[in-house]
Amino acid sequence: MLRVVSLPGDGIGPEVTAVAIDVLRALPIEIEVEEHSFGGGAILAEGIPLPERTLEACQSADAVLLGAVGLPELEGAPVRPEQGLIALRRALDVYTNLRPATGAGVDLLIVRELVGGLYYGARGRRPDGSAFDTLEYTPYEIERVARRAFELAGARRAHLTSVDKVNVLETSRLWRETVVRVAADYPDVELEHMLVDTAGLNLVQQPGRFDVILTENTFGDILSDVAAGMCGGLGLAASASLGDRRPGIFEPVHGSAPDIAGRGVANPAAMLRSAALLLRHAADEPDLATSLERAVDRALVSTPPADQGGSATTAEFAESVKDGLLEVAR
Ligand code: NAD
Ligand code: IPM
Ligand code: MN
Repeated sequence: MLRVVSLPGDGIGPEVTAVAIDVLRALPIEIEVEEHSFGGGAILAEGIPLPERTLEACQSADAVLLGAVGLPELEGAPVRPEQGLIALRRALDVYTNLRPATGAGVDLLIVRELVGGLYYGARGRRPDGSAFDTLEYTPYEIERVARRAFELAGARRAHLTSVDKVNVLETSRLWRETVVRVAADYPDVELEHMLVDTAGLNLVQQPGRFDVILTENTFGDILSDVAAGMCGGLGLAASASLGDRRPGIFEPVHGSAPDIAGRGVANPAAMLRSAALLLRHAADEPDLATSLERAVDRALVSTPPADQGGSATTAEFAESVKDGLLEVAR
C-alpha cells in the first residue's frame, strides 16, 4: 500500500493535482491518498502556510504529491505561501531536486540542490534601510547532492556539468573544490565546470550538449525554467525532490498560474509526469512510470492543451491520457 499525501495548494494546483490522483487511482497499484491544507489556502484559513497537521502527515507518508502554491494577493506579504514550500522541503530534507527536460534533440537532467544556499541563509533588514540575504553552503551539503548527480549521470550518458559562479562567489569556490573531490569516486563520469551565465547561454543555443547539470539552489531554480522554456514550456516540466529517506516530494516546476486558474485549461502534463516520477522513485514501479510517460506523450500529440497550441481542456487531456494508458496496457 502506497500512502500518498496530496497537497493541491493554490491556483491551478488543485486542478492538475485532481487529474494526477485520478490517473494514479486508475493504475494497478494499491494507493491511499490523504489530502491536506497547504500554501495560500492554509494562510487564509488558519494563518500559516504549513500547518502542523500537514507537516506530520507528510512526514509519515511514502510520498508527497504537490500541486503549486502562490496567491497574487499574498505576493510580498509578511506570511507567504512560498514559505510553506521552502519549510516543507527542509523539514523532509529533500536535498536533490531532479528536473528533467526533454524535447527535440534535448535530453537533460538538472540536479538542483534544494535545501541550502540563498533560500535558507540569514536574511533581514537593517536600521539603515538596507536588506540582505546570505548564500552559504557546507562541504557536506554540496557533497551529498554531488554524489547523487554523479550516480545519476553514471546511469545516463556519463557527462556531468557542474554550474557555478566561481569567478565571483566564495561558495562557488567551495562548490567546485567539493565537486572535484567527489569526482575521484566516479572516474567513469566525465566532469566539466561551467559558469552560470554561460550555462544560460548554452541552454538556449545548444541544449543538446548537456546530459546532467548539477547546480546550487538559486541557479537551479532559474536554469530549470530556462530548460523548460526550451522544451515546450512550464506545462510540461516535472520534478522530483528526494532525500536519503522517504518521503520525496513530487511537484511540477510551474507555479499556481493565477492568470489561467479556474478556467479548466491548465495543462496537467507536468503534474502527470511528476506522478510518473513518484511511481519510479517512491513506488518502485518503473514500468508503470514509463507507461504513464508514454500515455502523456501520446496525449500531447493527439489532444494538445492550449499552451501547446491546441484547444483541449484539462479534463479532455486527462481522458486522453487514461485512454492511452488502457492502450499501453493492452
Ligand atoms: P507560473 O509557473 O505559475 O506561471 C508562469 C506562466 O506559465 C503563466 O503564464 C502560466 O499561465 C503558465 N503556466 C504555468 N503552468 C501551466 C500549466 N500547467 N498549463 C498551462 N500554462 C501554465 O509562474 P508565476 O506566474 O510567476 O507564479 C505564480 C505563483 O506561483 C507565484 O505566487 C509563485 O511564487 C508561485 N510558484 C509556485 C511554485 C510551486 O509551488 N512549486 C513554483 C513556481 C511559482
Ligand atoms: C520552484 C518555485 C519555488 C522555488 C518557489 C515558489 C519558492 O519557483 O519550485 O521552482 O523557487 O524553488
Ligand atoms: Mn521556480
